[in-house]
Amino acid sequence: MITVVGSINMDLVVQTDCFPKQGETVLGNLYETVPGGKGANQAVAAARLGSDVHMIGAVGQDAFGTELLSGLKSEGVQVKGIKRIDGASGIANILLSEGDNRIIVVPGANYSVTAEEIASFTEQLAASDLVIMQLEMLIPVIQQTLEICHQNGVPSMLNPAPASGFTADFLPYCTYLTPNETEAEEIFGENWEKALEEYPNRLVVTLGQKGAQFYDGQKHITVKGFSTKTVDTTGAGDTFNGALAAALVEGQEFEGAVRFANAAASLSVEKFGAQGGMPNRAAVLERMAGDRS
Ligand code: RIB
Ligand code: NA
Repeated sequence: MITVVGSINMDLVVQTDCFPKQGETVLGNLYETVPGGKGANQAVAAARLGSDVHMIGAVGQDAFGTELLSGLKSEGVQVKGIKRIDGASGIANILLSEGDNRIIVVPGANYSVTAEEIASFTEQLAASDLVIMQLEMLIPVIQQTLEICHQNGVPSMLNPAPASGFTADFLPYCTYLTPNETEAEEIFGENWEKALEEYPNRLVVTLGQKGAQFYDGQKHITVKGFSTKTVDTTGAGDTFNGALAAALVEGQEFEGAVRFANAAASLSVEKFGAQGGMPNRAAVLERMAGDRS
């Protein structure tokens, strides 16, 4: 069983030919609301791959909250740990253009979750095979979750995104840490490749289309990315994390799990929306089988 402590957002996505400059108004081509939030995305990614996933978090009493909850349920994610508060659900304002995205997250209900509430989930956390987190929740919530995992010998995976929420206190408590290149640089500095050697088979840096990199105790390994027809990179990192979690819980060794996660992420970018394109197991295996490198 995987428990996700994390954010649940409605993504308000606007697609346009070019990003507006400061003070400029441009026309967009498309507007859609799709479920997102790094926590929910990672939960859905793991659930689609067959994991038993429980989520702890919060949504509002608004229409988005209703939609987000039913979306998670229909993906097979257990939602008993999600509370509803009198207020707005988290949203992400996402601009898609020039093959890139720009995101503003307004945490809303996500920030109503407290460390005390996390403590009330100790039994759930202690019974998990792996607990995954990102940094769209309040810092004391992350700290509390990591501590409960540590005390109960439960492996934890922290995806330090966005990295601004990261504090060095987290490090000794994380079993797995999964920054992207920018986040790795913020956490470990320019020489983050050296830091990989201190956390063999625990620290993996995602490199976008280039794949992912880690140290296996003897050597540095770069798992090559797959070439894809990229439609939308939003949620690619989340797919990587959810799939990595799913593979590790199944007992795959680290390198195999990273390859699996990489293949899953490459499929996710081929469809619109953070959760659109997140693959099932058959699709991942097919992609891996097609890889001759
Ligand atoms: O990682 C992508 C996610 O970040 C989006 O779904 C958005 O909600 C933000 O949380
Ligand atoms: Na996608």
